[in-house]
Amino acid sequence: MVIAETAFTPIFSSMKAVVINQNGDSSVLQLQEVPQPVPDHHDVLIRVYATSINPLDWKLREGISKILPGKFPKILGAECAGEVAAVGLMVTDFQPGDRVVAEMGADGGGYAEYALVNEKNVVKLPDDIDFVPAAAIPVAGLTALQALRDLGHLRPGDPVLINGAAGGVGTFAVQIAGILGGRVTAVCSESHAELVRRLGANRVIDYQKTDFTLQPDRYRIIFDTVSKRSFTDCKKALTDDGVYIAAVPSASQIFQDVVTTFTTQKAETVAMKFSKEDMQWLLTLVAAGRLEPVIEHVYLLREIAKAHQHSESGHATGKLVVAINHTDEEK
Ligand SMILES: NC(=O)c1ccc[n+]([C@@H]2O[C@H](COP(=O)([O-])OP(=O)(O)OC[C@H]3O[C@@H](n4cnc5c(N)ncnc54)[C@H](OP(=O)(O)O)[C@@H]3O)[C@@H](O)[C@H]2O)c1
Repeated sequence: MVIAETAFTPIFSSMKAVVINQNGDSSVLQLQEVPQPVPDHHDVLIRVYATSINPLDWKLREGISKILPGKFPKILGAECAGEVAAVGLMVTDFQPGDRVVAEMGADGGGYAEYALVNEKNVVKLPDDIDFVPAAAIPVAGLTALQALRDLGHLRPGDPVLINGAAGGVGTFAVQIAGILGGRVTAVCSESHAELVRRLGANRVIDYQKTDFTLQPDRYRIIFDTVSKRSFTDCKKALTDDGVYIAAVPSASQIFQDVVTTFTTQKAETVAMKFSKEDMQWLLTLVAAGRLEPVIEHVYLLREIAKAHQHSESGHATGKLVVAINHTDEEK
């Protein structure tokens, strides 16, 4: 979200937000007082109680990705959960007080006390899901579901390997692959073996000791949530009709996606697209206790730089969430 000047008198006052005014390391993340955004016709203004960190956030912060329009100040944060504070004139599905969860992608806006989201990207939150776990679901949960179901066409009994099984996307992928009936092999470091087993992995491979691509086992789906391997590396570990799915796009990966249109083994790259139906599917499973948003740590708004540093280490466990308590402690 870019904080825009508005011709209207804001109906709300100011809010605390973590803002960047330039690209750079985590020190560019500054807790500041900024104007509250004002909803346009199709917008929902959310009083944010939790947001979460995604690697996308620090890639945008660093400026290594050119997705970020060169406009500052900018508030990052691709997803949030909270209560509806106000709605635009054309919004009929939401009203103030509704508990909701939302996804904003690269537009951001989640690292703030209030976030503006188009109604298309907002869903109601069941009463039995708290804001902190809810904020961990949209980006990682939808990516895992859409990769395995839409690109992998996962069928019951399929052998599935999840590389990066202990991360934000990986912890959802291990569970969703199991829920869809896959026989799941999880690849992570030894320190995370117990976690991924608890999430339903049938087998665990420690990537520091064993290279799964050199083992005799074959998988119908290899979902590389951290894109540490390539389609070429994984070809021998795929069944003849197997698919390698990358979460991180690259020129070589996209080349393989195109080339394998003509072969039985496929390479694919997932590009998560927000879907209310898919979000409902995830929320229903979470509410039923069948899907667990794994959260390593809950930070405060003023600790976001620390959260970014941990995410950038590449060894976060599940998701890193930021709780927003709307008190002066945030200062
Ligand atoms: N295309 C899309 O639509 C989309 C959507 C969401 C995310 N993404 C991208 O997907 C990537 C993963 O996101 P994320 O949120 O899951 O990241 P993350 O939570 O930061 O991933 C951290 C995990 O990576 C594991 N890992 C690190 N090195 C590894 C290796 N060599 N082999 C296996 N696992 C390794 C770590 O496990 P250990 O600590 O056990 O080593 C850690 O648990 C990011 O680059 C993100 O930008 C893309």
